[in-house]
Amino acid sequence: MQNKINEIKKYILEKIKGIKNLKECQALRVEMFGKSGKFTELFKLIKDVPAEEKGKVGQILNTAKQEIEGLISDNERKMSEEEINKEIYSAEKIDITLPAEKCTGSLHPRTIIQREIEEVFTSMGFVVEDGNEVETEYNNFTAVNVPENHPARDMQDTFWLDNGEVLKTHTSASQNRILKKYTPPIRAIFPGRCFRNEDVDASHENTFFQLEGVIVDKDVSVGNLIYFMKEMLSKIFNKPVEVRLRPGFFPFTEPSFEMDVKCPFCDGKGCPTCKNGGWIELCPCGMIHPQVLRNGGLDPEVYSGCAFGLGLDRMTMLSTNLNDIRELNSGNLKLLKQFKIK
Ligand code: DAH
Repeated sequence: MQNKINEIKKYILEKIKGIKNLKECQALRVEMFGKSGKFTELFKLIKDVPAEEKGKVGQILNTAKQEIEGLISDNERKMSEEEINKEIYSAEKIDITLPAEKCTGSLHPRTIIQREIEEVFTSMGFVVEDGNEVETEYNNFTAVNVPENHPARDMQDTFWLDNGEVLKTHTSASQNRILKKYTPPIRAIFPGRCFRNEDVDASHENTFFQLEGVIVDKDVSVGNLIYFMKEMLSKIFNKPVEVRLRPGFFPFTEPSFEMDVKCPFCDGKGCPTCKNGGWIELCPCGMIHPQVLRNGGLDPEVYSGCAFGLGLDRMTMLSTNLNDIRELNSGNLKLLKQFKIK
């Protein structure tokens, strides 16, 4: 038995010297310890050993088995390290002198639509302004005439910061700064991210985007508002559009309206996008309340103005046919990569 073991050991030591890869090493393990492996066969011989020697022979076999297994395992480890190193250092050599691959990113659909709208408004003499995301209570509420006890100021609707400021709940929060910054005539749009303490579903987000606009001059009328909105929408939808006004209510406008657009997808005949109503509710708007003008340092006896608050997410969903607002903040690359600038 001892001779047979020595023979196998010698065989293995020889074989291991010639092994070139992990596969060969694994094959050797099978050759030794597989079902009819060389070593397995030795164990089978135990049954012929006289009873009094069985224990001793078994011990010798087990020790030898451990030794041989150790040799094979060491070799396996060595081989797999070599293979990994080969993969890292030789097979996947990176040539850092090569020119970079062309970047294949794409703009977020909301950025695309925002830029298109900005382009139309700037071509009509509007400036594009940035608003803050953290606002004072004054700018977000008081300056735009939201009463002290209005529910919109509640914790349930608004994210309040410890210092008494808020995450702006609407782009109207920038109106006061803009009215103070410019002297009329003023034409400004200000897109921005807004936040509300809101339960999220397919049509509500706690983080959403609006694009607000103000026009202030002597003798501004609802006609100006309709004109600019129609111009903008016709360019965005690539065809002349019809709009209609319904009465609305906002503390910062008097009178206030809801502007609807005749569904540009079915020309008002009724389709899934307009829920068969023929009209799409698009944009709250109105004539700027005299107190808002006054808060902005303007005399409402001299100047008048109109304002609108377009939902940018809604515009994006309309132009991309998305029907779940949550997709827009999802970071889902599969979806986002589909949108390219027109
Ligand atoms: N700030 C309003 C909102 O978030 C939207 C709005 C309504 C803006 C009327 C306006 C406006 O400028 O005139 O619900």
